[in-house]
Amino acid sequence: MRLDIPSSVTSPATPTATPTVTAAAAPSSANRRGLISALAMVAAVCVAVVALVVLLPAARSDPYTRSTLQLSGSGERGEQLFLINCAGCHGIAAQGLVGPSLHGVHNRKNNRQLIQQVVSGRTPPMPRFQPEPQAMADLLAYLDTLT
Ligand code: HEC
Repeated sequence: MRLDIPSSVTSPATPTATPTVTAAAAPSSANRRGLISALAMVAAVCVAVVALVVLLPAARSDPYTRSTLQLSGSGERGEQLFLINCAGCHGIAAQGLVGPSLHGVHNRKNNRQLIQQVVSGRTPPMPRFQPEPQAMADLLAYLDTLT
């Protein structure tokens, strides 16, 4: 059967209002000089921000973090330390219990953040640990094996 389209159905009305574009007046040379110094200011601010972002994390890292990051850790010793100190909350295979699973934690946190997590005590109920730098480096090596 053929469907007849009633003549009252028409395509939607096309908008009639067209945006008006007004050409900006050509800047005078004084305006141009103002613009150039404004751009120079913006560039200087950008350079300052980039310098801060690059330099601050390095300046912020404390002696403990720095000496820990200079050591190479042993994943095996790290696992021993983990079983004694951390497994009660994170599970013997770090699969998560009271605390979250630590598999793939390296993708979420870098070494500095992992050190902070362990030594800061900022996220109760996880206690504040004070491992020797070598022990901390061993823990990092163990956490690195958790894919
Ligand atoms: C008393 C329980 C407890 C113990 C013991 C504990 N943790 Fe935790 N841990 C937690 C809890 C709870 C969190 C989640 C904290 C939050 O983010 O609110 C956590 C978070 C973490 C995180 C961050 C996980 C993520 O996904 O960002 C890491 C890494 C971690 N713990 C490592 C350790 C290590 C290493 C030890 C042993 C030195 C340890 N924890 C001992 C309870 C514990």
